[in-house]
Amino acid sequence: MTVHEDMTDDYLLELENVSYSYRTRRAVNEVSLGIRRGEAFGLLGPNGAGKTTLISCIAGLLQNWSGSMEFDGQPFTPAHKASDRYQIGFVPQELAIYPNLSAEENLLFFGRLVGLRGEKLRKSVADNLDLAGLTERRHDLVRTYSGGMQRRLNLTSGLLHSPSLLLLDEPTVGVDPQSRNHIFECLRHMRDAGHTLIYTTHYMEEVQRLCDRIAIMHQGQIVALGAHSELAISIGNPQANLEEVFLHLTGRSLRDE
Ligand SMILES: Nc1ncnc2c1ncn2[C@@H]1O[C@H](COP(=O)(O)OP(=O)(O)OP(=O)(O)O)[C@@H](O)[C@H]1O
Ligand SMILES: [Mg+2]
Repeated sequence: MTVHEDMTDDYLLELENVSYSYRTRRAVNEVSLGIRRGEAFGLLGPNGAGKTTLISCIAGLLQNWSGSMEFDGQPFTPAHKASDRYQIGFVPQELAIYPNLSAEENLLFFGRLVGLRGEKLRKSVADNLDLAGLTERRHDLVRTYSGGMQRRLNLTSGLLHSPSLLLLDEPTVGVDPQSRNHIFECLRHMRDAGHTLIYTTHYMEEVQRLCDRIAIMHQGQIVALGAHSELAISIGNPQANLEEVFLHLTGRSLRDE
């Protein structure tokens, strides 16, 4: 499987040799990737592989990356240009919601941050409270919510402006099967509505069910890219499930990269 793909692909986002280092540690190492318009793209990798770092570069949270990014064929510099940032919905791995505000107040705040006002803001907040299953509890302080409710709010707080590209960094981590299923159905709904998704998780069966293509990241690099069936064939076992592919490509030993 090659990392560079057919030039005729209709890419929404293209990365070329993107690298990022924390002091001396190179966390992302020359990553080149094209994300197709409308696809659900799974980004997998062991702990420390560099997934969050790569997503943080795309989201504009980290700025001193090298290489280049294009969005819709135009240079993309989200750390420096607000209009580039508005193209993205970012759901971070760490909860990024205010515990001493209610769900509704959180969403009103995040909606204003991405430029929503008036009726548009109110409608988006109401729709997303509904999507998160939090309408009834919308006036309660977030610190009184269960972990699953907080995760559901964290998910929708990045989606209020209905961006074309959604960056989802482990949005279902640490929640019960009901909340996980609820979030999963939200993601499927987004994909079916035409959003492009980059989805990071350690739940392989979710990726198998949701994602059109999958990249496996290992020690800062993309070591495999393709549909699940293509990845299985590439390891010589067409019947392999994604977990078997993953272990084959990234090894079975524990790591703290
Ligand atoms: N703020 C930081 N300062 C220094 N090193 C960091 C920092 N954040 C991450 N790293 C290092 O960069 C590498 C990649 O980490 P990153 O968080 O991107 O991995 P990940 O694939 O998201 O892992 P996980 O599955 O555990 O979330 C690791 O070696 C990690 O220790
Ligand atoms: Mg991470």
